[in-house]
Amino acid sequence: MTTILRTFLCAIIILNILSITVAQKHPILLTSPDKKISLSTGIESGRIYYTVSKNKKQIIDKSFLGFIFKTGTFNSDFIIKEIKQNTFDETWKPVWGEESSIRNNYNELIINVEEKTRLKRKMILHFKAFNDGVAFRYEFPEQKNLTDFVIMDEETEFNFSQNYDSWSIPFPSEFYEALYTRKSINKLDSAVTPVTFQKDGLPYVTIHEANLTDYASLNLKNTGHSNHLKSCLTPLSTGEKVVMKAPHVTPWRMIIIGDKASDLLLSRMMLNLNEPSKIKDVSWIKPGRYIGIWWGMHMKKYTWEMGPKHGATTENVKRYIDFAAKYNFAGVLVEGWNVGWEDWKSYDFLTPYPDFDIKTITNYAAEKNVKLIGHHETGGNTIKYERQMDSAFVFYKKYGVDAVKTGYVGSFLDGKERNGSQYGIRHYRKVIETAAKRQIMIDNHEPAMPTGLQRTYPNLMTQEGVRGQEWDAWSADGGNPVNHTTVIPFTRGLAGPMDFTPATFNFTNTAMPNTRVHTTLAKQLALFVVLYSPLQMASDMIENYEGKPEFDFITKCPTNWSKTIVPHAEIGEYLTIVRKDIASDNWFLGSITNETPRDLKLSCDFLDKGVNYIAHIYKDGPGAHFLNNQYPVTIEEREVTSKDVMELKLAPGGGMGVFFERK
Ligand code: NOJ
Ligand code: CA
Repeated sequence: MTTILRTFLCAIIILNILSITVAQKHPILLTSPDKKISLSTGIESGRIYYTVSKNKKQIIDKSFLGFIFKTGTFNSDFIIKEIKQNTFDETWKPVWGEESSIRNNYNELIINVEEKTRLKRKMILHFKAFNDGVAFRYEFPEQKNLTDFVIMDEETEFNFSQNYDSWSIPFPSEFYEALYTRKSINKLDSAVTPVTFQKDGLPYVTIHEANLTDYASLNLKNTGHSNHLKSCLTPLSTGEKVVMKAPHVTPWRMIIIGDKASDLLLSRMMLNLNEPSKIKDVSWIKPGRYIGIWWGMHMKKYTWEMGPKHGATTENVKRYIDFAAKYNFAGVLVEGWNVGWEDWKSYDFLTPYPDFDIKTITNYAAEKNVKLIGHHETGGNTIKYERQMDSAFVFYKKYGVDAVKTGYVGSFLDGKERNGSQYGIRHYRKVIETAAKRQIMIDNHEPAMPTGLQRTYPNLMTQEGVRGQEWDAWSADGGNPVNHTTVIPFTRGLAGPMDFTPATFNFTNTAMPNTRVHTTLAKQLALFVVLYSPLQMASDMIENYEGKPEFDFITKCPTNWSKTIVPHAEIGEYLTIVRKDIASDNWFLGSITNETPRDLKLSCDFLDKGVNYIAHIYKDGPGAHFLNNQYPVTIEEREVTSKDVMELKLAPGGGMGVFFERK
């Protein structure tokens, strides 16, 4: 359960009239607890602005805040009515994650503003400064002159001090399954957040949002004025952005700031900006590894629909259950179990195909201590799904299924609404709340871009919203490029767990020979550690794992961690992540590179002092290369302690996995 370990200071100070009078003309300053990050805000000609700097280096120049409503603007004529300051420090325990406890420490500024003339409408601005960045949100309090209204756009500016390079995918990108590219801000058109920015000599920056509730997803667009970006919300089909009813708040606009690329990966600001768990009994929420009758469909060995090549037959599922039991996997995902796959539309979530005997299958699974992972492909038909989902969860639950993968393949939800629109956000929230009520964990494919909701609903285990490994099965462009997995941890990965589905062990693609997985086998092992997902899929067909010594690494790799550190990181280049198992004293390492081979040195000082470990090393073997020689892996064992330094040798497109087992 989410527990607050300590809260030692939470004092609200309300500034007096004199300081408010001063603040009408002068900037108000907010600094992070370590005093390195500063945010200043104030009013200039009736408009609210903010700036951000770190260690006196300006990151965001004067940027204005405000809205365009259907009835007109709400971005000027403001005066300050009240200013409050606050300091907060607590440490809490997530239900699962990359570490066992998270510190939430910030200074806060709350400013009440009101229109001086016009309708005297009120708004409250909340600013927070953490050691790893700043965040702010708008609140519309209950008031006479602002009750029901429509936001046509949010006018939050991010006026960068320099022409940073950015890593982003365009807005719109279907299901966010696109390739992140590097562009200077002045070449950026529009982008989905998270967008990550880097420039020599300046801090690394990521802009995203947190706690997106009954609102529209954030995107950024270039205004055409040098390094000037502005929010553009995902529209409804009507062109409206958000239909609002006060009182309500917007999501947090979040600017993660780090001195190194690795700092971005260790920021937990997004989780801290979400509310604590609403689920009281979390004993049923269990991270774990899973396999599935899945890659076989993408490789055209099986079909989703019933027929001679049907994947989801009772017999085949039993085979997968046997394998899961033998190799210690918690779950078996089975797609194509229910009617409707003939047209990918007429799904019914209560009617299995006749050759899928759910009772026999789930009894068999229970005997072997394995769970079936359910699948609801909606085809984007949310109206129909909302009608059926509760009974569909109850149906699954009756058979002991407590995790369901959902999917929304189809252009637009219900043929017209975007995943990240207010419509989509409301739908996905309804699904997660209904699933929580029925004690079902969710793996959401084709989601809205995540914003940290897993803190509040820890049954939201993992999500897609990324160009996952399935693209290496069928993408006409040949599959994900070799640098892809060295970019996504710093972009999409900052929005939360990704169901990327790594662990390909067979690199031939008979269905589309020119499309393939662009890594070595050792890199596939490393990805199991590098790409965090509490439900982590070993995605290949089981016959490709049987008898392979490298598979030991996958079957030992945990999905829930007590500590995470990032010894090496450069966006699009290389990344090493080391994590400690939550249930033991063992550590795991994953290190990956793009097409460039690397020699990296790793100090083992993260290991517990005075303890001897056996390092089980899985590294690229002689001549390994992501293009034409993926398979060679050298497996070695050696004794190490925290005093050792290890050499990590990565082949082109290669990687390395190490399991440090406490002796
Ligand atoms: C897209 C999902 O991402 C994929 O994992 C799934 O197999 C298909 N939809 C079918 O539901
Ligand atoms: Ca997908």
